[in-house]
Amino acid sequence: MMTTNKLGIYIHIPFCLQRCFYCGFHSQGGSSLLQQQAYVESLLADIDAYGAVYADAYLVDTVFIGGGTPTILPAVFVGMILDKLRECFVLAADAEITIESNPKTLTEEKLAAFQTYGVNRLSIGVQSFDDRILKTLGRAHSAEDAVESIVLAKECGFSNINLDLMFAVPGHTMECWVDTLKQAIALAPAHISFYSLQIEEGTPFYDRFMAGEITEISDFEDRRMYHKAIAMLKAAGYAQYEISNAAKPGKACRHNLKYWSMEDYLGIGESASSYLQGVRFTEAPVPEFHVNSREDDMSEFVFTGLRKTCGIKLAEFSHRFGADFWTVYADRRSELAAFLENGQLLETCGRLQLSEDCIDISNRIMAVFV
Ligand SMILES: C[S@@+](CC[C@H](N)C(=O)[O-])C[C@H]1O[C@@H](n2cnc3c(N)ncnc32)[C@H](O)[C@@H]1O
Ligand code: SF4
Repeated sequence: MMTTNKLGIYIHIPFCLQRCFYCGFHSQGGSSLLQQQAYVESLLADIDAYGAVYADAYLVDTVFIGGGTPTILPAVFVGMILDKLRECFVLAADAEITIESNPKTLTEEKLAAFQTYGVNRLSIGVQSFDDRILKTLGRAHSAEDAVESIVLAKECGFSNINLDLMFAVPGHTMECWVDTLKQAIALAPAHISFYSLQIEEGTPFYDRFMAGEITEISDFEDRRMYHKAIAMLKAAGYAQYEISNAAKPGKACRHNLKYWSMEDYLGIGESASSYLQGVRFTEAPVPEFHVNSREDDMSEFVFTGLRKTCGIKLAEFSHRFGADFWTVYADRRSELAAFLENGQLLETCGRLQLSEDCIDISNRIMAVFV
């Protein structure tokens, strides 16, 4: 009998055209075809091995090929990865299959090939439509390259497109951010992610920040840019569904929603993380393994769930954990009282959720549950 347990699969591709100055993700700038081929072969072996263990237990309903910049690979490698996934796992007919990309890596041939392999969602790292900001970020493309890629992807039949944007970049002004948002909205992608720049240790930005060569945008300005994005996206018909994500109706990313809903996902490839049957593990180069206790699962359900604008369903908490939320967290009630009284945290219609204006304080709420 076919299983109804759903699984998301993440595949990590650790190659980029060049390293952006701010990025802490696991990837290398520049790679040879031989290196790429060797890596893809090791991925295929891993997919085989994981399939032998998990294929019978799950129906795969989302695949996310991320990185790094997966579209740096020759399209045929992407085809081999998806063929292997179909050979080793049961993929749902309507599976959401996303690939992350960088403007300079997309050609008509590649986009057409992705379509034939069943890729039905394309995420494009645009970051900004201002060449000065792109230069500050160390991006390998211009604003014009990004526009061309988006137009090309649409012409090649991609209707489910996400654009990644970044704000609070050193030297960013509100005017410049608003202009990027306007241009993004005018291109009418189905989904827009908007990230506040984080200065990550081990990046050129971090070194320059520590040396006093760049200054962070103030918290006040950062939040102004954040709320401006939400307001403009809302006015343009995008509903925010997570701290940094907004989508046209029905276009929320089903794969990423699994991360915030404590659903099972399997990460394959260097640095990829998994959450499977209560166990969290991360692949080399920094391997981790953690068997979640029931308490871990309960608190993760709450603080990842509160990243979503719809929050958590208290009945789902009871159903998953066999216990009433407020009984389990009776001792946290006083800490949460202030958030509830001032309207930042709302308990309505059997849900606990952050108010529209306060979704970005979820990290403070998280502190109550860890
Ligand atoms: C894993 S990257 C992959 C996308 C693709 N490689 C690209 O950059 O074009 C996904 C997104 O994370 C965001 N990101 C990466 N590093 C960040 C940082 N330090 N602060 C905020 N956002 C960041 C960028 O918007 C980026 O597009
Ligand atoms: S932001 Fe994207 S392109 Fe830039 S280094 Fe990170 S993964 Fe690579």
